[in-house]
Amino acid sequence: MTEITLFPQPQNIEVKPGAFTINAHTRIFSADNAIGEMLADYLRPAIGFGLPAHPLDDDIASAVQNAILLIPGDADATAEAYTLEASPERVELSAAALPGFLHGMQTLRQLLPPQIMASETQDGVEWTIPCVSISDAPAFGWRGIHLDVGRHMFPLAFIKKLIDVMAFYKFNKFHWHLTEDQGWRLEIKKYPRLTEAGGYRAETVVSGTWDQYDGVPYGGFYTQDEARELVAYAAERGITVLPEIELPGHAVAALAAYPELGCVGESYQVRRTWGIADDIFCAGKDEVFGFLKDVLTEVLDIFPSAYIHIGGDEAPKPRWENCPACQARIKAEGLADEHELQSWFIRQIETWLNEGGRNLIGWDEILEGGLAPKATVMSWRGSAGGIAAANAGHDVIMTPNTYCYLDYYQSEDTDSEPWAIPAILPLRQVWQYVVVPEEIADDKRHHILGGQGNLWTEYMPNSDHVEYMAFPRAIAIADVLWNHPAERDYDSLVARLRRHLPRLDWLGVNYRPLDD
Ligand code: ACM
Ligand code: ZN
Repeated sequence: MTEITLFPQPQNIEVKPGAFTINAHTRIFSADNAIGEMLADYLRPAIGFGLPAHPLDDDIASAVQNAILLIPGDADATAEAYTLEASPERVELSAAALPGFLHGMQTLRQLLPPQIMASETQDGVEWTIPCVSISDAPAFGWRGIHLDVGRHMFPLAFIKKLIDVMAFYKFNKFHWHLTEDQGWRLEIKKYPRLTEAGGYRAETVVSGTWDQYDGVPYGGFYTQDEARELVAYAAERGITVLPEIELPGHAVAALAAYPELGCVGESYQVRRTWGIADDIFCAGKDEVFGFLKDVLTEVLDIFPSAYIHIGGDEAPKPRWENCPACQARIKAEGLADEHELQSWFIRQIETWLNEGGRNLIGWDEILEGGLAPKATVMSWRGSAGGIAAANAGHDVIMTPNTYCYLDYYQSEDTDSEPWAIPAILPLRQVWQYVVVPEEIADDKRHHILGGQGNLWTEYMPNSDHVEYMAFPRAIAIADVLWNHPAERDYDSLVARLRRHLPRLDWLGVNYRPLDD
């Protein structure tokens, strides 16, 4: 019987004898014609013939042969669940909602021969689908990939390609890290200097040095039209774009554009080096909050995501300690110290976001000085922040650096790898990731919404390199977040990947090869 290799592994799969073969007479039937066309669009380029999509009505549903049927399923099922039944006569994909149909289509693509990934007609391939009975749904509702476009930026076409590959692995969140010390990357109409000045740095530190620069100006940004285009593109593929606007730290590019928003008020430059900057938004000046709300107003208009990420990580306090306005704020609000001032800062933003019907997400530093009442925490410094937040009744997204930081070296043999941040995260370790820590009380475990892999791009100057760092580790993350297997045999993961990775060759993805 054919070896079936699927990523992520479905929750339940029964393999049966026989196969369904797509031929020149195979038709697609769908209650929702748009979904039928979507499936045809996935299959037609490589298969090269018709696959006409027809409306599905009840009298043919039970009788039609040589067809792929997309059938509205159990309305009580969760939106991402699907079932797939393939027999020699027909394939039935059933789901309650669009996300389930999309996931089922990706499973169908993976069940077909690898040539199905091709964008041009492949002659001489027998387009068979092994007979299976699959019933599938994700272990976690939040399955994300994060991309930092501040340190380096990448063409929109590449981000769309990344979205396509994410959809292939049933990811459903794209976390777009849009603002940084080294560049502000989203057009904001009310504050054009954010991108005109904040989008560009004079030069960039040379990897492996702290004090040598390449002398090459670097920058760019995404227009609001481009951002909207990406939001729509991702939505069609079942992926929500989560925008991140960093505050109060990682904001030097914004301060370079509008110096009055910092405590010192002058002499900021878009950063040329990596690391953590002492210069952050002033918490004492009211105009900072006016500015941030104006920016976020435009962000909310572009991004329909129920969540907005406001950063919150790595915000040193020396400027606040020495700023009369910040100190006056601490006094006026009866705060104990600068950590409580940060907490107060985040709460201002949370209140405003909640009034607009959105939820705030922040990195785990937002726990310091007291967590904003409804905040969702993204736990990155290991799992401790996530454990504390969940036990306090807050929702959590897990992205501990120890398992999910895809900017770390992929091998202990760092000399044989391209330059990366000085830390190591081999595939073997990613694969061991258990998302819900034991320290979380039984009645709080539901607060762990899921997790994501993070791509910080200090050492990823181009999109080929992003792909090299992302894959295959992100595939292991997809498997963990969707299937969360109890047993994690590394050798069998590697064996599955050896069979599966040629599909990424067809997609032109520059993944890191498996070790021999
Ligand atoms: C982070 O990695 N600074 C969230
Ligand atoms: Zn200040």
